[in-house]
Amino acid sequence: MSVSFVVGNWKMNTTADAFIPFVQQLQQTGCISEALSAHVNVVICPPFTTLHAASPLPEGIYLGAQDCHEQPSGAFTGNISAGMLAALGCSYTIVGHSERRQYQHETNQVIGLKAMAALGAGIIPIICIGETLQERTGNKTLEVLENQIDGILSTLNVAMLPQCILAYEPVWAIGTGLSATAEQAEVVHAFIAQKISTSTDSTIPILYGGSVTNTNAAELFAQPNISGALVGGASLKVDVFSQIIIAATKK
Ligand code: PGA
Repeated sequence: MSVSFVVGNWKMNTTADAFIPFVQQLQQTGCISEALSAHVNVVICPPFTTLHAASPLPEGIYLGAQDCHEQPSGAFTGNISAGMLAALGCSYTIVGHSERRQYQHETNQVIGLKAMAALGAGIIPIICIGETLQERTGNKTLEVLENQIDGILSTLNVAMLPQCILAYEPVWAIGTGLSATAEQAEVVHAFIAQKISTSTDSTIPILYGGSVTNTNAAELFAQPNISGALVGGASLKVDVFSQIIIAATKK
């Protein structure tokens, strides 16, 4: 059975004291034991300032970060390296989230370097790609995604790609309540899967992100090329997040 993923991106929300109670409540719903038996990896990516407080992590929940720097160490004030994340128990890190592309002006080349840095520290990068509303309405979605992947592969060694996770996150769907429909998402996921298998001869997990909730998760997970979800707002609510995890166990 293939492994699928439900990844919670807490963004700039919560303080360290909230983590363990959240995880305990999540466990109490029973979704973590179901995830374990169904081979669904549950990952929580809280702010950097919470990572130290995320232990002991119960079996079935993995820790992730929301970004890492592309260099292992040095004079980069305010940044965090992948090695530092590994030392705090992170197994995953998001790189190239559209909010970082927009507000920190991250390029595909930098995102490829960040993914390389993560892999070098033993962390699996969850690499985000996605089109804006203007690009979608201009019928440029697939072209934009292809360019993003090619740009990332200009600095990320293609031989390393099978060790990564991709997340398709249409920018217009993030935090808007306007999820892509399952059919819209599947068209893009199938395109990405085809491109990856042509470049690497392998398949990698491709997650969908953008207004995933307990009401649309099952339909999204039913699509053949959707391997899980990257969940923002809904990952902050135990009851909703647990229902998304349960939906993934039915895939
Ligand atoms: P959302 O965010 O689920 O709140 O739309 C998803 C994300 O930004 O990863």
